[in-house]
Amino acid sequence: MTGLPLRVTRASWEAEGVIGLRLAAKDASPLPSWEPGAHIDVRLPSGLSRQYSLCGDPRERRHYDIAVRLEDAGRGGSAEIHGSALVGRDLTVSYVRNHFPLTEADEYLLIGGGIGITPLVPMIRALAEREVPWSAVYCGRGAETMAFRDELAALGGQRIRCVDTARETRPDLKGLIGRLGPGAAVYCCGPNSLLDAVSEVCEAAGVRYETEHFGAATASADAAAGDEVELELRRSGVSVVAGPETTLLQAIRDAGVEIESDCEEGYCGTCETGVLEGVPDHRDVVLSKTERAAGRTFMPCVSRACGRKLVLDL
Ligand code: FES
Repeated sequence: MTGLPLRVTRASWEAEGVIGLRLAAKDASPLPSWEPGAHIDVRLPSGLSRQYSLCGDPRERRHYDIAVRLEDAGRGGSAEIHGSALVGRDLTVSYVRNHFPLTEADEYLLIGGGIGITPLVPMIRALAEREVPWSAVYCGRGAETMAFRDELAALGGQRIRCVDTARETRPDLKGLIGRLGPGAAVYCCGPNSLLDAVSEVCEAAGVRYETEHFGAATASADAAAGDEVELELRRSGVSVVAGPETTLLQAIRDAGVEIESDCEEGYCGTCETGVLEGVPDHRDVVLSKTERAAGRTFMPCVSRACGRKLVLDL
């Protein structure tokens, strides 16, 4: 993974099962800038690479803050972070990427589930300083597991509703979303069940929405199988056919064209590739709904094509 060598300068207990990490340059020099919704990939000492949303303040350029929930059914990244003494360790961190940017809207509703609150924290911080109507709902199973509650209360007061789903009924999404005006936007990050529910209600109500998945990816290399696809790699001047069992990433490499990858399961975004012609069949969990609809980039490690051919910017 190409990126920045950053040192873990602080680990903090944010909530039951949630650890915060602070990463900074060894010489304390300013880090590349970022906007709310951005994430970084962190290469752990074991070699595992994991993606985390930045949850600090973008105006603070000397460090990046992330929060990591211990996932019992995870794939090892969170267990490694929770189980090792990382303060003082140097880790490779990717350059910032943002597939979940806060775009202009007349009104905002932010919905976070569990550790899915992390990309929403800097959004809330930004909205709290703007003259725009906004509100947020933060759901978690057990108040003690919900990080950033005090900080969010200080930022938003009554605009932020924290819902402990172990004790209270889930929020009425239809009611919340149905009340929004025509220029509103909904931002949601959390588990798939929450994203699916929010997407369904927003589509029925005709409300613009953006979602970001967290947790173990639903995409997989197996899911990358499908019909034969012809790839034209325009800048390289070569074409290749990916058979039904071959990922498009592998086909690109078979054609002798270099392409960077990391997770190869559709969740890190490293292999993101420009699409010049054709319609991708997106199977990753990285791109936003808007980016999928635009079809200008895709993740060839898991995605395929809706038609027989794609022309790629490679
Ligand atoms: S390599 Fe991670 S999304 Fe393709």
